[in-house]
Amino acid sequence: EDTERTVLIEAHELAAKFYHYLLNNTQHGKAAKDYLRERGLGDKLIDHYMIGYAPEQWDTLSRFLDNRKFDPALMEKGGLLSAKHDGSGYVDRFRSRIIFPIWDRDGKVTAFAGRIIGDGQPKYLNSPETMLFTKSRTLYNLHHARPAIRKRKQVVIFEGYMDVIRSWSAGVKNGVATMGTALTAEHCQMLGRQADEVLICYDGDDAGQAAAMKSIPMLEAAGMRVMVSMLPKGKDPDEYIAEYGPEAFMREAIDEPVSVTKFKLIYSRKNHILLKEEGRKNYLLEAAGIVAELDSAIEREIYLQELSREFEVPLEVLKQDCLIKHQELQ
Ligand code: UTP
Ligand code: MN
Ligand code: MN
Ligand code: MN
Ligand code: MN
Repeated sequence: EDTERTVLIEAHELAAKFYHYLLNNTQHGKAAKDYLRERGLGDKLIDHYMIGYAPEQWDTLSRFLDNRKFDPALMEKGGLLSAKHDGSGYVDRFRSRIIFPIWDRDGKVTAFAGRIIGDGQPKYLNSPETMLFTKSRTLYNLHHARPAIRKRKQVVIFEGYMDVIRSWSAGVKNGVATMGTALTAEHCQMLGRQADEVLICYDGDDAGQAAAMKSIPMLEAAGMRVMVSMLPKGKDPDEYIAEYGPEAFMREAIDEPVSVTKFKLIYSRKNHILLKEEGRKNYLLEAAGIVAELDSAIEREIYLQELSREFEVPLEVLKQDCLIKHQELQ
C-alpha cells in the first residue's frame, strides 16, 4: 500500500510534466495553448500552474507510462488510465483536454482535472477518488497559497480552478477552490487551522449565492470570521477579471467584501416582493432574525437603524422583535 502510493505519486508527477510538455511543444498542444491565451493565461501562469494538454489519442499517456515500466493495473487504480470494456488492456483517462494538475498539501501531484476545449460535457473531468485523492479533503492551490494564508491569516475561497488561477495573477495569493463539490467540514477545519478570516468569492449567480449560504455556518463553526465578496450578476471571478481587469477586481471584489449579515439580508431580500406590504413584513421579520444572530448589541443596532430608515418602521419596534429572537438563540 505504501509503495503503491509512492509509485502512483511518481507517475502523477511525471504525467503532469509530460502533459505540460505536450502543451508547449506539440502541434496539437498549440490549439489548446491558443485557447488558454484567449482566456488570458500567459506563459508564466501556465508554467506556475503546470497546465498541460492531453491529446486526443487513446494511448498517449499509457505508452509513456508503459515505457517507464509502470504497472498499468496500478495506473488504472490511480485514475490515470481506464480499463477497456473488453478487458483487453488500458486507455488514457484524459483525452483532448486541458490538464490542471491537482496538488496535495505537500505539493505532490495526486490528481488531475481535465477541461474540454470550448463547449461540451462534461466541462471538467476529474480524477476519481483514489488512495491519493479525496475530494472532501482537497483544496485546489492550497500548497501554493499556504504561505500567504498563514501570513495574512486570511484565505479566499473560489468555486473554480480558473477563478483561482486568474485571481492569483491579479494579486490574490491566498486563494483556494473546492473540487467541484460542496465545501466540507474537513475543508473548513483545514482552513481554520491556518486562518482567522475567510473571504467567500463564489460565482455571482444563484448557485454561487446558495453555495455561499451553505458555506457560511460551516466556516463559522470552524472558528473563522467570514466575509463575502459579491460579484455582479452572473459573473464569476475569472469573467470579472476578463471584463473589468485585475485592478477593478482587487478593488471591488477583494478589498470591499460585505459582512455575513449584510450578505444574508441581500439574499433574503430577493425572496420577498418588497412592493407589497405582505412582502415587506415578511422580509422585516426574516431580517430581524438574521440581525438577531449577532452577539454584539451595537452591531445589531447599526443594521436595525438601516432597516428602520429604509422601511420607515420605528427603531424601537425592530429592536423589540430582534431582542426576542436574539434571546431565543442564546
Ligand atoms: P463552473 O461551471 O462555474 O465552471 O464550475 P468554471 O470554473 O467557471 O469553468 P470555466 O471558467 O468555464 O473553465 C465550477 C467548478 O465546478 C467544477 C470545477 O471544479 C469547476 O471549476 N466542475 C464544473 C466540475 O468538476 N465538473 C464540471 O463539469 C463542471
Ligand atoms: Mn514549464
Ligand atoms: Mn458556477
Ligand atoms: Mn464559474
Ligand atoms: Mn469560469
